[in-house]
Amino acid sequence: MSEKRDTDRLYLDYAATWPMRREVWRAMEVELDRGFNPASAHTPGRQAHRQLELARGKVAELLGCERSWVYFTGGGTLSDNLAILGFTRARERSRVFVSQIEHKACLEAAERAADEGATVEIIPVDETGTIDTGWLTRELGAETGRPTLVSVMWANNEIGTVQPMDEIVALAHERDALVHTDAVQALGKIDVDMSRTPVDLLSGTAHKLGGPVGIGFLACRTGVELEPLSYGGGQERSMWPGTQNPLGATGLAAALELAIGEREAVSSRWIELRDHLEARVLDEIPGARIHGGDAPARLPQLVSVGIPDCDSGAVLVSLDMEGIAVSGGSACGSDSGAGSTVVDALGLEDEPPYTTVRFSFGHETTRDDVDRAATALARIASRVSALSV
Ligand SMILES: Cc1ncc(COP(=O)(O)O)c(C=O)c1O
Repeated sequence: MSEKRDTDRLYLDYAATWPMRREVWRAMEVELDRGFNPASAHTPGRQAHRQLELARGKVAELLGCERSWVYFTGGGTLSDNLAILGFTRARERSRVFVSQIEHKACLEAAERAADEGATVEIIPVDETGTIDTGWLTRELGAETGRPTLVSVMWANNEIGTVQPMDEIVALAHERDALVHTDAVQALGKIDVDMSRTPVDLLSGTAHKLGGPVGIGFLACRTGVELEPLSYGGGQERSMWPGTQNPLGATGLAAALELAIGEREAVSSRWIELRDHLEARVLDEIPGARIHGGDAPARLPQLVSVGIPDCDSGAVLVSLDMEGIAVSGGSACGSDSGAGSTVVDALGLEDEPPYTTVRFSFGHETTRDDVDRAATALARIASRVSALSV
Protein backbone atom coordinates (compact mmCIF):
# COMPACT_ATOMS: atom_id res chain seq x y z
CA MET A 1 0.00 0.00 0.00
CA SER A 2 1.21 3.49 -0.79
CA GLU A 3 2.22 5.53 2.24
CA LYS A 4 0.82 8.84 1.11
CA ARG A 5 -2.63 8.11 -0.25
CA ASP A 6 -5.85 6.55 0.71
CA THR A 7 -8.09 6.54 -2.37
CA ASP A 8 -7.26 9.74 -4.19
CA ARG A 9 -5.80 11.74 -1.34
CA LEU A 10 -2.65 13.60 -2.15
CA TYR A 11 -0.25 14.40 0.67
CA LEU A 12 2.09 17.31 0.02
CA ASP A 13 2.87 18.24 3.61
CA TYR A 14 6.00 16.19 4.33
CA ALA A 15 7.59 19.17 6.08
CA ALA A 16 4.89 18.89 8.76
CA THR A 17 5.38 15.15 9.24
CA TRP A 18 6.84 12.62 6.85
CA PRO A 19 4.61 9.59 7.42
CA MET A 20 6.51 6.55 8.72
CA ARG A 21 8.18 4.69 5.92
CA ARG A 22 7.73 0.94 5.41
CA GLU A 23 11.48 0.40 5.61
CA VAL A 24 11.56 2.15 8.99
CA TRP A 25 8.64 0.05 10.24
CA ARG A 26 10.51 -3.04 9.21
CA ALA A 27 13.73 -1.96 10.95
CA MET A 28 11.71 -1.32 14.12
CA GLU A 29 9.72 -4.53 13.80
CA VAL A 30 12.90 -6.57 14.07
CA GLU A 31 13.40 -5.00 17.49
CA LEU A 32 9.76 -5.11 18.62
CA ASP A 33 10.13 -8.14 20.85
CA ARG A 34 12.93 -6.40 22.71
CA GLY A 35 10.90 -3.70 24.40
CA PHE A 36 12.90 -3.79 27.60
CA ASN A 37 14.42 -1.12 29.78
CA PRO A 38 17.98 -0.45 28.61
CA ALA A 39 18.95 0.57 32.14
CA SER A 40 18.12 -2.92 33.50
CA ALA A 41 21.08 -5.09 34.38
CA HIS A 42 19.48 -8.38 33.20
CA THR A 43 20.01 -9.93 29.78
CA PRO A 44 16.90 -8.43 28.09
CA GLY A 45 17.87 -5.01 29.47
CA ARG A 46 21.40 -5.37 28.17
CA GLN A 47 20.02 -6.32 24.75
CA ALA A 48 17.90 -3.16 24.74
CA HIS A 49 20.96 -1.16 25.77
CA ARG A 50 22.94 -2.62 22.86
CA GLN A 51 20.12 -1.72 20.49
CA LEU A 52 20.08 1.85 21.76
CA GLU A 53 23.83 2.19 21.43
CA LEU A 54 23.78 0.71 17.96
CA ALA A 55 21.31 3.40 16.94
CA ARG A 56 23.43 6.10 18.61
CA GLY A 57 26.50 4.92 16.71
CA LYS A 58 24.64 4.93 13.42
CA VAL A 59 23.24 8.45 13.99
CA ALA A 60 26.73 9.70 14.92
CA GLU A 61 28.28 8.16 11.83
CA LEU A 62 25.61 9.70 9.60
CA LEU A 63 26.10 13.13 11.19
CA GLY A 64 29.89 13.00 11.02
CA CYS A 65 30.29 13.27 14.79
CA GLU A 66 31.34 11.22 17.79
CA ARG A 67 28.92 8.72 19.31
CA SER A 68 29.29 10.45 22.70
CA TRP A 69 27.95 13.70 21.26
CA VAL A 70 24.50 12.21 20.54
CA TYR A 71 21.84 12.61 23.24
CA PHE A 72 18.45 11.12 22.39
CA THR A 73 15.51 13.35 23.35
CA GLY A 74 11.76 13.41 22.77
CA GLY A 75 11.98 15.42 19.50
CA GLY A 76 13.09 18.63 17.82
CA THR A 77 11.38 21.07 20.18
CA LEU A 78 12.96 19.46 23.22
CA SER A 79 16.40 19.40 21.58
CA ASP A 80 16.16 23.10 20.67
CA ASN A 81 15.13 23.94 24.24
CA LEU A 82 17.96 21.88 25.67
CA ALA A 83 20.49 23.61 23.40
CA ILE A 84 19.41 27.18 24.17
CA LEU A 85 18.28 27.01 27.80
CA GLY A 86 20.93 24.40 28.60
CA PHE A 87 23.54 26.89 27.35
CA THR A 88 22.22 29.99 29.13
CA ARG A 89 21.49 28.24 32.44
CA ALA A 90 25.02 26.84 32.59
CA ARG A 91 26.56 30.32 32.28
CA GLU A 92 26.43 33.76 33.92
CA ARG A 93 25.78 36.84 31.73
CA SER A 94 25.25 34.83 28.56
CA ARG A 95 24.13 36.18 25.20
CA VAL A 96 22.07 34.35 22.59
CA PHE A 97 21.63 35.38 18.96
CA VAL A 98 18.64 33.85 17.19
CA SER A 99 17.43 34.69 13.71
CA GLN A 100 14.10 36.35 13.00
CA ILE A 101 12.87 33.22 11.22
CA GLU A 102 13.68 30.50 13.75
CA HIS A 103 11.10 27.89 14.64
CA LYS A 104 9.06 28.71 17.73
CA ALA A 105 10.96 26.03 19.60
CA CYS A 106 14.05 28.29 19.44
CA LEU A 107 12.32 31.67 19.58
CA GLU A 108 10.31 30.80 22.67
CA ALA A 109 13.25 29.11 24.38
CA ALA A 110 15.24 32.31 23.73
CA GLU A 111 12.39 34.38 25.14
CA ARG A 112 12.46 32.23 28.26
CA ALA A 113 16.25 32.66 28.48
CA ALA A 114 15.71 36.45 28.31
CA ASP A 115 13.18 36.23 31.18
CA GLU A 116 15.87 34.44 33.14
CA GLY A 117 18.41 37.22 32.57
CA ALA A 118 20.25 36.29 29.34
CA THR A 119 20.65 38.93 26.64
CA VAL A 120 18.85 37.88 23.47
CA GLU A 121 19.55 39.50 20.10
CA ILE A 122 17.50 38.90 16.96
CA ILE A 123 19.48 38.46 13.72
CA PRO A 124 17.71 40.14 10.77
CA VAL A 125 17.12 38.39 7.45
CA ASP A 126 16.87 39.77 3.92
CA GLU A 127 13.88 39.34 1.63
CA THR A 128 14.96 35.81 0.69
CA GLY A 129 15.10 34.78 4.36
CA THR A 130 18.92 34.62 4.41
CA ILE A 131 20.47 35.97 7.60
CA ASP A 132 22.52 39.15 7.53
CA THR A 133 26.01 37.84 8.28
CA GLY A 134 27.45 41.38 8.16
CA TRP A 135 25.12 42.40 10.98
CA LEU A 136 26.02 39.27 12.95
CA THR A 137 29.76 39.90 12.52
CA ARG A 138 29.43 43.48 13.76
CA GLU A 139 27.23 42.63 16.74
CA LEU A 140 29.35 39.67 17.84
CA GLY A 141 32.42 41.89 17.73
CA ALA A 142 30.73 44.79 19.55
CA GLU A 143 30.91 43.12 22.93
CA THR A 144 33.50 40.49 23.72
CA GLY A 145 34.20 38.37 26.77
CA ARG A 146 30.62 37.15 27.34
CA PRO A 147 29.58 33.51 26.77
CA THR A 148 27.70 33.65 23.48
CA LEU A 149 25.57 31.24 21.48
CA VAL A 150 24.45 31.82 17.90
CA SER A 151 21.37 29.74 17.07
CA VAL A 152 20.46 29.68 13.38
CA MET A 153 18.34 27.00 11.71
CA TRP A 154 20.12 25.22 8.88
CA ALA A 155 17.01 25.27 6.66
CA ASN A 156 13.74 27.08 7.21
CA ASN A 157 10.57 25.04 7.67
CA GLU A 158 8.21 27.56 6.06
CA ILE A 159 10.05 28.93 3.03
CA GLY A 160 12.97 26.52 2.65
CA THR A 161 15.84 29.03 2.75
CA VAL A 162 19.15 27.33 3.55
CA GLN A 163 21.55 29.43 5.63
CA PRO A 164 25.28 29.82 4.90
CA MET A 165 26.22 27.61 7.86
CA ASP A 166 29.95 27.36 7.01
CA GLU A 167 30.26 31.12 7.04
CA ILE A 168 28.18 31.47 10.22
CA VAL A 169 30.28 28.90 12.06
CA ALA A 170 33.54 30.50 10.92
CA LEU A 171 32.58 34.01 11.91
CA ALA A 172 31.09 32.91 15.24
CA HIS A 173 34.08 30.77 16.19
CA GLU A 174 36.49 33.59 15.29
CA ARG A 175 34.66 35.64 17.92
CA ASP A 176 34.58 32.86 20.53
CA ALA A 177 30.85 32.22 20.13
CA LEU A 178 29.36 28.73 19.94
CA VAL A 179 26.86 27.73 17.25
CA HIS A 180 23.62 25.79 17.57
CA THR A 181 21.65 24.81 14.50
CA ASP A 182 18.13 23.47 14.28
CA ALA A 183 18.71 20.98 11.45
CA VAL A 184 15.23 19.45 11.70
CA GLN A 185 14.28 20.40 8.13
CA ALA A 186 17.77 20.11 6.66
CA LEU A 187 18.59 16.52 7.60
CA GLY A 188 18.16 14.12 4.72
CA LYS A 189 17.33 16.98 2.31
CA ILE A 190 20.73 18.69 2.01
CA ASP A 191 24.26 17.76 3.03
CA VAL A 192 24.60 18.02 6.82
CA ASP A 193 27.91 16.86 8.22
CA MET A 194 29.34 18.09 11.52
CA SER A 195 32.87 17.11 10.52
CA ARG A 196 32.76 19.50 7.57
CA THR A 197 30.57 22.20 9.13
CA PRO A 198 31.70 22.22 12.76
CA VAL A 199 28.59 23.47 14.56
CA ASP A 200 28.72 22.87 18.31
CA LEU A 201 25.11 21.82 18.82
CA LEU A 202 22.70 20.31 16.30
CA SER A 203 19.03 19.34 16.76
CA GLY A 204 17.14 16.74 14.76
CA THR A 205 13.87 14.79 14.89
CA ALA A 206 12.76 11.50 13.33
CA HIS A 207 9.26 12.40 12.15
CA LYS A 208 10.48 14.82 9.48
CA LEU A 209 12.44 11.96 7.91
CA GLY A 210 9.92 9.15 7.70
CA GLY A 211 10.69 7.98 11.23
CA PRO A 212 8.50 7.79 14.35
CA VAL A 213 7.10 10.83 16.17
CA GLY A 214 8.43 11.50 19.66
CA ILE A 215 12.14 10.81 19.25
CA GLY A 216 14.88 13.25 18.36
CA PHE A 217 18.41 14.07 19.34
CA LEU A 218 20.77 16.84 20.26
CA ALA A 219 24.35 16.40 19.10
CA CYS A 220 26.57 18.32 21.51
CA ARG A 221 30.31 18.64 20.86
CA THR A 222 32.60 17.40 23.65
CA GLY A 223 33.44 20.22 26.05
CA VAL A 224 30.26 22.24 25.44
CA GLU A 225 28.66 22.45 28.84
CA LEU A 226 24.86 22.35 29.12
CA GLU A 227 22.57 22.43 32.14
CA PRO A 228 19.94 19.67 31.79
CA LEU A 229 16.32 20.81 31.68
CA SER A 230 15.07 18.00 33.92
CA TYR A 231 16.44 15.71 36.59
CA GLY A 232 15.99 12.04 37.37
CA GLY A 233 17.61 8.71 36.80
CA GLY A 234 20.76 9.86 35.03
CA GLN A 235 19.95 8.38 31.60
CA GLU A 236 21.58 9.95 28.54
CA ARG A 237 24.44 10.89 30.88
CA SER A 238 21.93 12.99 32.87
CA MET A 239 21.32 15.29 29.89
CA TRP A 240 17.93 13.74 29.12
CA PRO A 241 16.92 11.61 32.11
CA GLY A 242 13.99 9.17 31.95
CA THR A 243 13.63 5.66 30.56
CA GLN A 244 15.23 5.58 27.12
CA ASN A 245 13.49 4.56 23.91
CA PRO A 246 15.56 2.00 21.98
CA LEU A 247 12.71 1.27 19.57
CA GLY A 248 12.32 4.96 18.69
CA ALA A 249 16.08 5.37 18.39
CA THR A 250 16.19 2.40 15.99
CA GLY A 251 13.49 4.05 13.88
CA LEU A 252 15.32 7.39 13.95
CA ALA A 253 18.61 5.83 12.85
CA ALA A 254 16.91 3.81 10.09
CA ALA A 255 15.03 6.86 8.78
CA LEU A 256 18.16 9.01 8.77
CA GLU A 257 20.16 6.32 7.01
CA LEU A 258 17.49 5.86 4.36
CA ALA A 259 17.04 9.60 3.75
CA ILE A 260 20.76 10.29 3.52
CA GLY A 261 21.34 7.24 1.33
CA GLU A 262 18.81 8.32 -1.28
CA ARG A 263 19.27 12.08 -0.92
CA GLU A 264 21.34 12.76 -4.01
CA ALA A 265 19.14 10.74 -6.35
CA VAL A 266 15.86 12.04 -5.01
CA SER A 267 16.86 15.69 -4.67
CA SER A 268 17.50 16.20 -8.38
CA ARG A 269 14.00 14.86 -9.01
CA TRP A 270 12.60 17.14 -6.29
CA ILE A 271 14.27 20.20 -7.84
CA GLU A 272 12.59 19.42 -11.17
CA LEU A 273 9.23 19.08 -9.43
CA ARG A 274 9.80 22.25 -7.40
CA ASP A 275 10.73 24.28 -10.47
CA HIS A 276 7.79 22.89 -12.42
CA LEU A 277 5.31 23.73 -9.64
CA GLU A 278 6.73 27.23 -9.23
CA ALA A 279 6.63 27.91 -12.98
CA ARG A 280 3.01 26.83 -13.19
CA VAL A 281 1.98 28.87 -10.15
CA LEU A 282 3.68 32.03 -11.43
CA ASP A 283 2.19 31.49 -14.87
CA GLU A 284 -1.34 30.67 -13.87
CA ILE A 285 -2.05 32.72 -10.73
CA PRO A 286 -2.00 36.49 -11.26
CA GLY A 287 0.30 38.26 -8.80
CA ALA A 288 1.57 35.03 -7.20
CA ARG A 289 5.07 34.97 -5.71
CA ILE A 290 7.44 32.36 -4.35
CA HIS A 291 8.72 33.09 -0.85
CA GLY A 292 12.46 32.60 -0.67
CA GLY A 293 12.53 31.77 -4.39
CA ASP A 294 15.62 33.92 -5.00
CA ALA A 295 17.57 32.66 -1.98
CA PRO A 296 21.17 31.68 -2.75
CA ALA A 297 20.41 28.20 -1.34
CA ARG A 298 17.06 26.48 -0.83
CA LEU A 299 15.58 23.14 0.14
CA PRO A 300 14.87 21.04 -2.94
CA GLN A 301 11.45 19.80 -1.89
CA LEU A 302 9.63 22.79 -0.41
CA VAL A 303 7.65 25.53 -2.16
CA SER A 304 6.04 28.46 -0.36
CA VAL A 305 3.55 30.27 -2.56
CA GLY A 306 2.14 33.73 -1.82
CA ILE A 307 -1.23 34.52 -3.39
CA PRO A 308 -2.68 38.04 -3.30
CA ASP A 309 -6.16 38.86 -2.11
CA CYS A 310 -7.24 35.40 -1.05
CA ASP A 311 -8.56 34.20 2.27
CA SER A 312 -6.02 31.73 3.59
CA GLY A 313 -8.55 29.49 5.36
CA ALA A 314 -10.72 29.28 2.24
CA VAL A 315 -7.78 28.22 0.06
CA LEU A 316 -6.55 25.55 2.49
CA VAL A 317 -10.03 24.15 3.17
CA SER A 318 -10.81 24.04 -0.56
CA LEU A 319 -7.59 22.15 -1.27
CA ASP A 320 -8.37 19.77 1.57
CA MET A 321 -11.87 19.19 0.19
CA GLU A 322 -10.23 18.19 -3.09
CA GLY A 323 -8.13 15.69 -1.16
CA ILE A 324 -4.91 17.72 -1.25
CA ALA A 325 -3.15 18.12 2.10
CA VAL A 326 -0.81 21.13 2.40
CA SER A 327 -0.06 23.74 5.08
CA GLY A 328 -0.40 27.48 5.47
CA GLY A 329 2.97 28.71 6.75
CA SER A 330 3.89 25.87 9.10
CA ALA A 331 1.78 23.10 10.60
CA CYS A 332 2.67 24.41 14.10
CA GLY A 333 1.21 27.86 13.43
CA SER A 334 -1.95 26.58 11.76
CA ASP A 335 -4.14 26.54 14.85
CA SER A 336 -2.95 29.84 16.31
CA GLY A 337 -4.77 31.92 13.70
CA ALA A 338 -1.68 34.16 13.43
CA GLY A 339 -0.11 35.03 10.08
CA SER A 340 3.37 33.75 9.28
CA THR A 341 6.09 35.57 11.22
CA VAL A 342 8.60 34.07 8.78
CA VAL A 343 6.94 35.65 5.74
CA ASP A 344 6.49 38.92 7.70
CA ALA A 345 10.23 38.91 8.45
CA LEU A 346 11.00 39.01 4.71
CA GLY A 347 9.64 42.58 4.68
CA LEU A 348 7.88 42.12 1.32
CA GLU A 349 5.39 44.54 -0.11
CA ASP A 350 2.18 43.02 1.28
CA GLU A 351 -0.35 45.19 -0.47
CA PRO A 352 -2.82 43.62 -1.20
CA PRO A 353 -2.49 41.09 1.63
CA TYR A 354 -0.99 37.75 0.62
CA THR A 355 -1.88 34.31 1.82
CA THR A 356 0.74 31.55 2.08
CA VAL A 357 0.44 27.95 0.90
CA ARG A 358 3.32 25.57 1.60
CA PHE A 359 3.86 22.45 -0.51
CA SER A 360 6.47 19.92 0.54
CA PHE A 361 7.33 16.71 -1.31
CA GLY A 362 8.34 13.24 -0.24
CA HIS A 363 10.08 10.32 -1.90
CA GLU A 364 6.83 9.24 -3.57
CA THR A 365 5.75 12.59 -5.02
CA THR A 366 5.38 12.52 -8.80
CA ARG A 367 4.98 15.06 -11.58
CA ASP A 368 1.31 14.09 -11.87
CA ASP A 369 0.87 14.95 -8.18
CA VAL A 370 2.45 18.34 -8.70
CA ASP A 371 0.31 19.01 -11.77
CA ARG A 372 -2.82 18.06 -9.89
CA ALA A 373 -1.89 20.44 -7.04
CA ALA A 374 -1.00 23.29 -9.41
CA THR A 375 -4.26 22.92 -11.36
CA ALA A 376 -6.32 22.82 -8.16
CA LEU A 377 -4.53 25.81 -6.63
CA ALA A 378 -4.99 27.98 -9.73
CA ARG A 379 -8.69 27.13 -9.91
CA ILE A 380 -9.26 27.69 -6.18
CA ALA A 381 -7.25 30.93 -6.10
CA SER A 382 -9.28 32.43 -8.91
CA ARG A 383 -12.57 31.38 -7.27
CA VAL A 384 -11.58 32.62 -3.80
CA SER A 385 -10.13 35.92 -5.02
CA ALA A 386 -13.32 36.55 -7.03
CA LEU A 387 -15.28 36.08 -3.78
CA SER A 388 -12.92 38.43 -1.89
CA VAL A 389 -13.54 41.48 -4.13
C1 LIG B 1 12.56 23.66 11.97
C2 LIG B 1 11.83 22.90 13.02
N1 LIG B 1 12.32 22.84 14.26
C3 LIG B 1 11.72 22.15 15.23
C4 LIG B 1 10.53 21.50 15.00
C5 LIG B 1 9.91 20.73 16.13
O1 LIG B 1 10.17 19.37 16.03
P1 LIG B 1 9.27 18.31 16.83
O2 LIG B 1 7.94 18.31 16.14
O3 LIG B 1 9.99 17.02 16.73
O4 LIG B 1 9.17 18.81 18.23
C6 LIG B 1 9.96 21.54 13.74
C7 LIG B 1 8.65 20.88 13.48
O5 LIG B 1 7.75 21.48 12.97
C8 LIG B 1 10.62 22.26 12.71
O6 LIG B 1 10.12 22.33 11.48
